[in-house]
Amino acid sequence: MAANPTDSGRAPVRPLAPASLRQRRMRESDVPAVIAIENESYPFPWSDPIFRDCLRVGYTCRVLEDRDGLCGYAILSMGAGEAHVLNICVDASLRGCGAGRQLLYWLLHRARGAGCEAVFLEVRPSNPHAVRLYESTGFEQVGLRRGYYQAVNGREDALVYRLALGGWPTPAVALAAPLPGEP
Ligand SMILES: CC(C)(COP(=O)(O)OP(=O)(O)OC[C@H]1O[C@@H](n2cnc3c(N)ncnc32)[C@H](O)[C@@H]1OP(=O)(O)O)[C@@H](O)C(=O)NCCC(=O)NCCS
Repeated sequence: MAANPTDSGRAPVRPLAPASLRQRRMRESDVPAVIAIENESYPFPWSDPIFRDCLRVGYTCRVLEDRDGLCGYAILSMGAGEAHVLNICVDASLRGCGAGRQLLYWLLHRARGAGCEAVFLEVRPSNPHAVRLYESTGFEQVGLRRGYYQAVNGREDALVYRLALGGWPTPAVALAAPLPGEP
């Protein structure tokens, strides 16, 4: 993943509306709202063309929304029996409400459904909330990429995590329903 979160430390300013939570494919028309969340979340955010490229090349690009709008998004690439979580991000005002786990679990289901045996991701050591999310999901650290990330004071390492999907139990968390007609 590209960057380090700006942890606002704020309590949610609006509650998630779980009854109206839906996940669906990201569309080109979502990119401005996605960019708004991205810019608020990372000191080195992905640009508009990067998101549009992800859509163009057919990566799995998902959004989670409730009746009040976009809550977060996640992007996965798949190939050769492996998947790679490229981005997962939740609106800063909605963190800690379960949206990140919803998005991650949906990606893992999708990867398993596509026949992937393992999922990889990179995360900054300075991002404890994300590390906790991944480790509590069953990801294990398998490597370290030195100086992988741009950082305010130079470069920052990336922790490389892997989850073997074969051993991943179906989670107890109920996933938000897809929109009608969505996989
Ligand atoms: C990482 C991120 C996606 C998590 O999303 P979220 O909706 O806040 O996470 P959830 O509410 O689903 O919580 C999932 C787990 O994350 C960890 N977590 C999330 N917020 C936490 C906090 N404030 N303190 C401690 N752990 C936290 C916990 O393990 C939590 O599981 P639990 O609730 O069962 O204890 C979100 O913090 C985010 O968007 N960060 C900015 C972008 C980013 O850093 N993305 C990851 C790049 S590798």
